[in-house]
Amino acid sequence: MKILIKNGYLVDPKANRNGLYDIIIDEGKVWEIGNNLEVSGGDIIDASGKYVLPGFVDAHCHLRDPGFEYKEDIESGTRSAAAGGFTSIACMPNTNPPADNEAVIKYILNKAKHEGVINVFPIGAISKGLKGEELSEIGELKFAGAVAISDDGRPVKSASLMKKAMLYASMFDITVISHCEDLELADEGVMNEGYYSTVMGLKGIPAAAEEVMVSRELILSEYTGTPVHIAHVSTELSVELIRNAKKRGVNVTAETCPHYFSLTDEACDGFNTLAKVNPPLRTKKDAAAIIEGLRDGTIDIIATDHAPHHLDEKNVEFNIAANGIVGFETALPLAVTYLVKPGHLTMEQLVHKLCVNPSKILGLSKGSIEVGQAADITIIDVNEVNTVNVAKFKSKSKNSPYDGFKLTGAVYYTIVNGKVVVREKVLL
Ligand code: DOR
Ligand code: ZN
Repeated sequence: MKILIKNGYLVDPKANRNGLYDIIIDEGKVWEIGNNLEVSGGDIIDASGKYVLPGFVDAHCHLRDPGFEYKEDIESGTRSAAAGGFTSIACMPNTNPPADNEAVIKYILNKAKHEGVINVFPIGAISKGLKGEELSEIGELKFAGAVAISDDGRPVKSASLMKKAMLYASMFDITVISHCEDLELADEGVMNEGYYSTVMGLKGIPAAAEEVMVSRELILSEYTGTPVHIAHVSTELSVELIRNAKKRGVNVTAETCPHYFSLTDEACDGFNTLAKVNPPLRTKKDAAAIIEGLRDGTIDIIATDHAPHHLDEKNVEFNIAANGIVGFETALPLAVTYLVKPGHLTMEQLVHKLCVNPSKILGLSKGSIEVGQAADITIIDVNEVNTVNVAKFKSKSKNSPYDGFKLTGAVYYTIVNGKVVVREKVLL
């Protein structure tokens, strides 16, 4: 059946469209984009007063499948992502077994094809077993369908191994994503080192633990002449280092996550394990620098780092609680509330961060609504205010520090390959 999206305000910078358009979808693809379009007997979606955007692309999430399906699996994870407006997501390899070989990559792709409701792009491990010792077979991962490699959750401790990863990855035209953390500097800290860690008597993780590794990756990228993508940037100096490297012509891209611009380490007060995440929530000054980095283009993308954990892994002492925040279903409202409404980002810039740049970095033909291409479209209301209710999350896990927050911005429709997955805010 044809779908006609009528009277929506289309923001699609890649296609140079910013205005009122109608869109016809047929056979899963975008058929026509124009004005006063009509179809006979199709599904008509009235998008007046709403923004029609390319489907969101998340370059960093954890689906926990295989191995930790009690936290999330491909079905629940993709449903949660669809509810959040995502039509394509790239999942990290810290599963059990880890995605360090063809079999696991194929398992994820196959399961996503049968049980997933959106497009899933697996990320392979940089090192075998995520142990940081020996490179995985990067060519094998690429040919199995991995779009990037990362040991996310852990850093690659050896600079020499990271150098080799960069060289192989560029040979196979696959993106290297670095989780920047010097484990010795982090020294088993559990939250940001600063006022709150002192008051709470908890061991702190200095900002330097991230920044030292960011510097290393920038130097290695410049040395090898190969690209690198820095995951979940959280500190002011990391932003400054990346800004300077970009000026020098280093082929670096960077991401941050909604929690780094919407929360600070104050959220850990009262030993709130829901705010425990790695890298840790930082200070007001860091959050302001993250926002400035997004505004001036130093930070290319917003990724969720959707990291589901069972509440039993959070309802424990702060020191032993799991790191992570579920992110799919709050990403858009957090971005609208903390970035768009205060005037830090325009809608067009937001589409760059959520659609265009993640697609480009991962080498996906997504991020735009173009005739002849798969119809991946998200329709949002940027003015609607809702109170976050984690009990209603589609994710199996509810580990979010945002329960009860009043946020602006709501996903009304998620359309994936021409199929309506979310209709009028209801996940089908
Ligand atoms: O908070 C985090 N959770 N940070 C990571 O790097 C990994 C992730 C996870 O897998 O739970
Ligand atoms: Zn990470």
